Amino acid sequence: MKKYIVFLGFLIINFSCNNDRNMISESEIDKKVDKLIQSMTLDEKVGQMTQIDQRFLDTITDLSTYSIGSLLSGGGSHPKVNEPQAWLDMYNGYQSETLKSRLQIPLIYGIDAVHGHNNVYGATIFPQNIGLGATNNPELIFKISEATSIEVAATGIDWTFSPCLSSPEDYRWGRTYEGFSSDPSLVEILGEASVKGYQSAQTNSGKKVVACAKHFIGDGNTEFGTGMNGLVDRGNTILNVDELKEKLLPKYQAAIDADVQTIMASYNSWNGVKCHGSKELLTDILKIEMGFDGFVISDWQGIDEIPGDYKSDIITSINAGIDMVMVSGQGQPYKKFMRLLKESVEEGSIPLARIDDAVKRILKVKIRNGLFDNPLVENDALKVIGSDTHRDIARQAVRESVVVLKNDDIIPISKDSKSIVVAGRGADNLGMQCGGWTINWQGGQGDITIGTTILDGIKKSVSAETNVIYSEDGQDLNDVDGELAVVVIGEDPYTEFFGDKDNLDLLNDDINTINNLKNKGYKVMVLLISGRPMNIAEHIDDWDGFAAIWLPGSEGDGVSDILFGDFQSTGKLSYPWPIKAEHGANADDKDLLFNFGYGL
Ligand code: GLC
Repeated sequence: MKKYIVFLGFLIINFSCNNDRNMISESEIDKKVDKLIQSMTLDEKVGQMTQIDQRFLDTITDLSTYSIGSLLSGGGSHPKVNEPQAWLDMYNGYQSETLKSRLQIPLIYGIDAVHGHNNVYGATIFPQNIGLGATNNPELIFKISEATSIEVAATGIDWTFSPCLSSPEDYRWGRTYEGFSSDPSLVEILGEASVKGYQSAQTNSGKKVVACAKHFIGDGNTEFGTGMNGLVDRGNTILNVDELKEKLLPKYQAAIDADVQTIMASYNSWNGVKCHGSKELLTDILKIEMGFDGFVISDWQGIDEIPGDYKSDIITSINAGIDMVMVSGQGQPYKKFMRLLKESVEEGSIPLARIDDAVKRILKVKIRNGLFDNPLVENDALKVIGSDTHRDIARQAVRESVVVLKNDDIIPISKDSKSIVVAGRGADNLGMQCGGWTINWQGGQGDITIGTTILDGIKKSVSAETNVIYSEDGQDLNDVDGELAVVVIGEDPYTEFFGDKDNLDLLNDDINTINNLKNKGYKVMVLLISGRPMNIAEHIDDWDGFAAIWLPGSEGDGVSDILFGDFQSTGKLSYPWPIKAEHGANADDKDLLFNFGYGL
């Protein structure tokens, strides 16, 4: 929380800002935290700095025994039955156990709700950030984040590891779609709106949802070949400190000024040093120079990637400024983490003052967000999950994310067309249109949740007389006398390094489907589902129309709103589109197919 100069005007501003924080002032929070910390044992402090994925708990009583500070659900870390009530029961079960600890400090539960409450079956799935960047609409991004927090809070959960503030430059990176834009200044505007939307949402339980700006820093700016498997993800970002500060810090400063409560350290390295182990980044720059007073969370087993053994990883990362470690429990056992952390403090390798600073930051966030007031949540809000109101917001986002890049008088399509062929792998595939981070870590194919496919949307839009023919590969159309086809092609779902690729060509199956239709004399409107610009330059001249629809999520009928002209397309590219997509955002202007900001 920014320190306010004590003028009457500022006090009023301070009060208005605080009224979002359950009316408790920073000075009251400080008093409460100081009182708590004085009564805490080292074991209890170490427990607060430990975050475990709920799947890897040895036993639920560990939560009270060790006063564990946080649980998370990593991608796909569901209750036994993936439905809202089961999520809420799981949350309340873990929280109730945690409250049996000596000091009854509630746990804070985190999840990747990065395009809606996307792990939960039936939740509204919003477009991934690359599509939201194309809307260039901060008010809409605020509403999306607000709606997401309301769905997250309905299941009890307190914290989303979002927004991702990366400004990806190399499209061969599997996480390109998690960035709003390659342009840090657009990311700054939309990221700020997202933080405010997540954290100001008036949830039914009264608890706030904590946002998390990630991944600090330079996640989307690594050198090709320095990443995992010789590709991009978790590679090395080479910038001198002035370049870093000028290019990548403003978007985080905006998030800090918007009161973001947590920041996640990034797997990548900066000039050869792992961010998770960089005191210059996490303490000197982030906490001191930028004034961040929330807490820094590591990424999943992120400290394990620091050179050295696990104990030295712990010492290096905590001394660098990591406040809570996402141990996960899938790799190193969390009891080993806690033992080594305690040992490191007792032997003086980690100063107790560093531990107290970390725990104070964690406790302040928990108090500010109402966790101490009402940690357990009633099931009186589950109906908001996947509500029509939220799906309408998502449909608007889909409409505004569609970027029409070619239109030889093919759209709008008449709703009274005699027949429309709908083809392509992505035409009737909800999983493909949602992409990664949906229900499971890597997403999935087909009916993975509740939503409307592109085909569904087309069928709902046309008149009763129109004959909509679906053909996945555009082959079996002999007795159809259609003239127009909508062909939905693109990428199968992927997340993180699973999406790293050294080549961004379209799939041969997709090219063949389009050619099957062209050879039969159809006019084709091609829609590309993808997490990034791809190599279309050698094909687009054969197409009558083309639109990038990115990863639209569950409300596929937003695409039909544009196809049939119910709404004008307004989407503009938030990433420049090179002739060779592998050249990325820094391609020379002469090598661009479409410029940043272009859209018909
Ligand atoms: C992942 C991602 C990070 C996510 C975290 C928890 O590896 O890098 O974005 O928030 O783990 O799922």
